Amino acid sequence: MTRSTPLPRACAASAGVNFALVKYWGKRDAALNLPAVGSISLTLAGPGTRTTVAFDAALDADHFTLDGVAQADAGVVGVLDAVRAAAGVDLRARVESQNTVATAAGLASSASGMAALGLAAWGAAGLPVEAPATQPALVEIVRRGSGSAPRSLLGGLVELRVDDASVHPLAAADAWPLAIVVARVGRGPKKVKSRPGMTHTAETSPYYAPWIEAHPADLAAARAAIAARDLPALGAVMERSTLRMHACMWAADPPLRYLQGRTLDLMDAVEGLRDAGVGAWYTMDAGPHVKVLCAADDAPRIAAALAQVPGLAAVDVCHPGPGARAEVLP
Ligand code: PMV
Repeated sequence: MTRSTPLPRACAASAGVNFALVKYWGKRDAALNLPAVGSISLTLAGPGTRTTVAFDAALDADHFTLDGVAQADAGVVGVLDAVRAAAGVDLRARVESQNTVATAAGLASSASGMAALGLAAWGAAGLPVEAPATQPALVEIVRRGSGSAPRSLLGGLVELRVDDASVHPLAAADAWPLAIVVARVGRGPKKVKSRPGMTHTAETSPYYAPWIEAHPADLAAARAAIAARDLPALGAVMERSTLRMHACMWAADPPLRYLQGRTLDLMDAVEGLRDAGVGAWYTMDAGPHVKVLCAADDAPRIAAALAQVPGLAAVDVCHPGPGARAEVLP
């Protein structure tokens, strides 16, 4: 089927990365990429992805460049195919993405990447780009690309619900002056991608079932802490959630370990700051990096303290940011 109305020439979308405070790990349905648990995250301003999509009758294949380098990426074509099916478009697309976050290193580049790509393709296909998180078909396309990506459609603190995988705002980016200090350990790509890592954990870890069982209580505690703007309570549940997730992976057979020695040094440093009365809490995803949640005012001194840990690649201060947004280009 071909669209009868002319397509907009191109659409550019930007999305910030999001970090989960209450983690998701495991799929309820692998084919639909539905998560086995809900999650609560914070979308950041700054690190993220900007993507332009243009459907073009002159192309006979999709073209994708990431930071100026041509890539063959089945995930990108999968998103484009899903948008084409939803919009009744049969044209190939030119896709240009720029990441301002280390790609595939456990720094959530797939979340911002899939959110920006899905929204840009949606807009380029002539579908509405306003309030993207309220459009279930778009949320689903983005989720199939990356399970954590729908959270980047919204700004600030966001919940992804387990029942229908819908996303909901818990607190806008400017509603609570928080910061995340990102301490990067090494620059290399992660050794096991999250999708196979989740499957392996679910199939072999005796702690997987308890992880799923204990999870709703962590979500409830985080929701309550956010509603009360209680940072120590939110920090405590955040640390609990990341350690439970990693414990579950460590118990897989063979074990799956993303955390490194320097990760533990950073965890020690964060606990040391807390012992000295500074409100700082860590979380780690499918990589060795440590993200530290704190009040915005405390971020500079926390960053300075973490920078003392030997062997880090970088320490950056990030702030909450808006959800994905798009602009149809003339
Ligand atoms: O978005 P995915 O499918 O790559 O999974 C992300 C998993 C974690 O980052 C480890 C946790 C989370 O909820 O973001």
